[in-house]
Amino acid sequence: MGITYKQAWEKLAEYGQEHVLRYYEDLNEEEKQALLAQIESIDFSVTASCAHKEELAKKGRISPLKAMELPEITENREAYRKLGEEAIRAGKVGAVLLAGGMGTRLGSDAPKGVYNIGLTKEVYIFERLIVNLLEVVRETDAWIHLFVMTSDKNHEATVTFLTERHFFGYRSEYVHFFRQDMAPAADYNGKVYMESKYKISTSPNGNGGWYISMKSTGMSDIVREAGIEWLNIFAVDNVLQRIADPVFVGAVLHENCDVGAKVVRKNAPDEKVGVICLEDGRPSIVEYYELTEELMSARDEKGDPAYNFGVILNYLFRVSALDGLLRKKLPLHIVEKKIPYMDEQGNFVKPKEPNGYKFENLVLDMIHQLESCLPFEVVREKEFAPIKNPTGIDSVESARALLLQNGVEL
Ligand code: UTP
Repeated sequence: MGITYKQAWEKLAEYGQEHVLRYYEDLNEEEKQALLAQIESIDFSVTASCAHKEELAKKGRISPLKAMELPEITENREAYRKLGEEAIRAGKVGAVLLAGGMGTRLGSDAPKGVYNIGLTKEVYIFERLIVNLLEVVRETDAWIHLFVMTSDKNHEATVTFLTERHFFGYRSEYVHFFRQDMAPAADYNGKVYMESKYKISTSPNGNGGWYISMKSTGMSDIVREAGIEWLNIFAVDNVLQRIADPVFVGAVLHENCDVGAKVVRKNAPDEKVGVICLEDGRPSIVEYYELTEELMSARDEKGDPAYNFGVILNYLFRVSALDGLLRKKLPLHIVEKKIPYMDEQGNFVKPKEPNGYKFENLVLDMIHQLESCLPFEVVREKEFAPIKNPTGIDSVESARALLLQNGVEL
């Protein structure tokens, strides 16, 4: 039995969101129950953060964090590879595909992974990722558990697509889907938008919610039972990335860090990537818009830029360190977005300009809560082809060019 109307009203009143029940009397029984259930499941406390938005973004003292660079990796490649392959064969490494995002910039309503980037044949984003992971499966002769995070907005479409295509050759027992949590979307005053008379506008709660959602959906039980000690999380949109890369795994094991971060050398001081660093002595990431002139021009002892390595959303986390994180709350990020909503007249509106806030947790804040991080340099042209936009920078076009350059047929 869910909450009653009175309990729902009280919960909403605590956060000034009573307007959510404005049309309650017009609803049929099923709609009433759906709305009450949604009110029960949502954490409205996030909306209160709009009032002290500026405070949320405060950073500590930033200093450089040394990366393991290509020459050192080349020198130890075979030793790291051996270590990594052993860990994979022992079943200690799992992979987590973060595919819960909305991919709004790409402009398709379908999940990003089902986007066809082929030119003369069909080549899907999901396919590219799985084909890359399959190379490691073949190299090690061991199957790697692949956890796929979706959201309420794209779950069915993702599962159907991958199931119909037989997971592009991946063994189905090793593929596990789970949904991330949703957060309400609000106007600039923190009032949540309604999508219809019985539905609050929600969006996925950011890519930092993945481990909490793995816990709440029972995925962590699979992790525990399988003896997985490391989880390699990766974004859906980098079609060149190496997943469960044995050399990377081996390096992180060798350095005994809580997390490894694949990084690329920045192509310009003001490139729009988050930069790995220390913040108050702990590993952290400064976003490009937080990078001051002073940090941008800082040099290390070799004369190289001191903040020269950008993260590509490919991290290897130690599972036992993640369990420790669950006790702490991640900071909240407020992001300005275009939020579809129902207006006063009851019309559904898809705004062309941003009209409010979404509330997100980000993976980069998890890094800051850990003790140690190994930034691991990879060759950008070989491992970084993100698809964010249809054309221009980080686009379908630029990714296609990089794939062709790497010998992938499209
Ligand atoms: P982005 O930050 O590029 O966001 O996600 P997005 O939602 O996919 O795209 P835009 O901004 O709307 O165009 C980086 C990675 O994090 C995942 C995405 O699926 C992508 O792999 N992500 C993002 C989630 O899994 N959940 C989220 O709530 C947000």
